Amino acid sequence: MALLADRFGRTFPYLRLSVIEACNFRCSYCLPDGYLGAKQRPAPLSREEIARLLRGFAQVGLRKLRITGGEPSLRRDLPEIIASAAAVGGIETIALTTNGTQLDKRVQRWREAGLTHLNVSVDALDRERFRAITGHDRLPEILRGLDLAHGLGFGAIKLNAVLLKGLNDDQLPAWRDYLRDHPVSVRFIELMRTGDNAAYFERHHLRASALEEQLLADGWRLQPRPGDAGPAREYAHPAFAGRIGIIAPYSKDFCAGCNRLRVTHTGDLRLCLFGNVGIPLRPWLQDDADRDRLAAALQSQLGLKAIGHQLHAGETGLTPNLSTIGG
Ligand code: 5AD
Ligand code: SF4
Repeated sequence: MALLADRFGRTFPYLRLSVIEACNFRCSYCLPDGYLGAKQRPAPLSREEIARLLRGFAQVGLRKLRITGGEPSLRRDLPEIIASAAAVGGIETIALTTNGTQLDKRVQRWREAGLTHLNVSVDALDRERFRAITGHDRLPEILRGLDLAHGLGFGAIKLNAVLLKGLNDDQLPAWRDYLRDHPVSVRFIELMRTGDNAAYFERHHLRASALEEQLLADGWRLQPRPGDAGPAREYAHPAFAGRIGIIAPYSKDFCAGCNRLRVTHTGDLRLCLFGNVGIPLRPWLQDDADRDRLAAALQSQLGLKAIGHQLHAGETGLTPNLSTIGG
């Protein structure tokens, strides 16, 4: 069957799959009151449904899977989910986005199950600032978990930090110290406006441009991007083992290289993080015999994908906060 493609010639080898909505953190930009639960909602996709979903996507060209949440490590069967993805032919990269709170206990198991790439949210390297942003004083164990992960041969380890005016915009010196001898890439992400965080956005949104000017002045250099690179602009410096990436969702070309689709924890296909449609795939996930129908449904839905998001116009689409869809 043909590769998934949209009307603008973009192909979609990359799927971000949320496996759970719940989270144990209270990041002030995402779930400031913590995860409040959802009694009436359908259950998250089962392991069997996830395996069928992945086999269907693989049939139309899936090569890279990212498992997100909520906080995916809150799912007890995460190692089995990873292993079932690893068993699907064609999926070369299996990445996990996590807040890192289970790393020190579980990362070895995830690696053994077939996880290849790791993204950990670390919004500040200062313990008190980290606590203030996430609502939890758990930075030390997350850094311990990261040290453990370093010895396990991951393809890449990336750290995510959302840029927040007044909350972590003083952390660059601390990051420099860390990156001197840690071969990780830290990605500074501009805060995105979601359905829930309008007032917070006004207070804390910070453009990355000043940071990028600072990096250039300090001798960091923008790296050429491989064709299949994501939306980050990456900087390197000869005196540092680590790199710094900038993710600026409001920059003008952000959507041009879009190569990703999203599926929510209840099996709705999202064509764009900030789109207005969620297409239920669950009906095609109940029986192995529906695989071709699932692949055909994916192909016809792609015809509806828009050229870019409308965040500039203040349209945040269906996304109240990123815990529903995993960023
Ligand atoms: N803007 C930018 N990044 C966000 N994340 C969560 N909410 C937002 C937002 N509103 C990030 C988290 C995590 C990743 C899953 O998405 O910090 O690194
Ligand atoms: Fe949880 Fe991630 Fe949202 Fe933080 S950003 S509250 S870790 S889902």
